[in-house]
Amino acid sequence: MKNEVRVSEKLSEAHTLPSWLYTDPRVLEVEQNQIFAKTWQYVGHVSEFKKTGDYITTEIVGKPIFVTLGNDGEIRAFYNVCSHRAAKLVEGEGNKKVIVCPYHAWSYRLDGSLNRAPNMKGVENFDEQAFCLHGVRLEIFESFIFVNLDPDAEPMSSLFGGLFDHVKKNKMNQFIKTRVKETICHSNWKVGIDNYLECDHCPGVHKSLVSKVDMKQYESFLYDHYVYQVTPLKGQTANFELGQGGRYYWLYPNMWFSFDPGSPNVSIHQSFPIDYKTTKYVYTTFFMNETISNEEKELMAVDEDVRREDKEICEIVQKGIETGVYKQGRFSLTENCVHHFHLLMQKRVEHHLPLDKVEI
Ligand code: FES
Ligand SMILES: [Fe+2]
Repeated sequence: MKNEVRVSEKLSEAHTLPSWLYTDPRVLEVEQNQIFAKTWQYVGHVSEFKKTGDYITTEIVGKPIFVTLGNDGEIRAFYNVCSHRAAKLVEGEGNKKVIVCPYHAWSYRLDGSLNRAPNMKGVENFDEQAFCLHGVRLEIFESFIFVNLDPDAEPMSSLFGGLFDHVKKNKMNQFIKTRVKETICHSNWKVGIDNYLECDHCPGVHKSLVSKVDMKQYESFLYDHYVYQVTPLKGQTANFELGQGGRYYWLYPNMWFSFDPGSPNVSIHQSFPIDYKTTKYVYTTFFMNETISNEEKELMAVDEDVRREDKEICEIVQKGIETGVYKQGRFSLTENCVHHFHLLMQKRVEHHLPLDKVEI
């Protein structure tokens, strides 16, 4: 029998989060409600909205959302739910000048207001204003579109302000969405974040990548809601230009901007828990041109190798956690970013779960 300890604020004495947070399905439910439903999630890129009425659909914590470009040039997000009797309004992606519900044909303007509600003749006290679509918070950062289901969420500029100043230098709005790729990893989503937030594993797991970059110049920088990791290619200095090294920004809780070495590029990586031990990864790659050069193809292949290596190690770790013998680990002093993530997680979930429960 062993008493669990909370993750200490002091790295040198801290234990990791207890293993049952990675294996108990009830934890994921709390995480979905307390974390994923209250944080900024990347949903698309402005290049997907060329004409008035262009729309895309997505889901955040299983809730259907759509994003559309209005007549006034503004991109807005709404719940993809009809105000009459809650049917889904639009599917996939496309263009609609008016959103017509397929169930009983109520229709909505692109600003979410009710356009027409057929069959309502004779209905008393029907206030059309009260039956517009339910909007979702949306922010555009340098052409990248984020939404947040929490109406009271802190704006991205205050959560990630410094990061934006940093990333802006990379001509972000010149990027063109080139490819989207999805993979499934059989591990808890936090295993993937833990793995991503340190590079102690890089020499052992990413031998090919490490042979190209200068690990002696690897650095990581920790901020309240994001982490920045940087490594120049061999022969470059810390001030390298875009493409001459890797710059990786993790945004709490589940996405990162990756600027890989090679042709100017950025990838958005997102991880979405499917269940407590299955995670979907979505990789959206942007380059400066529509056509992909051989160098860019090579870069994507290297990227895929790195992702495969990370997926394999995460699946091994999940199996290890699930043996039941592993309860809590310890951090090395270079795992400070993982420690920070564990503190953030502890803070978010401890009022909803007994973190001090005794495991047998
Ligand atoms: S549910 Fe949409 S019109 Fe009835
Ligand atoms: Fe890795």
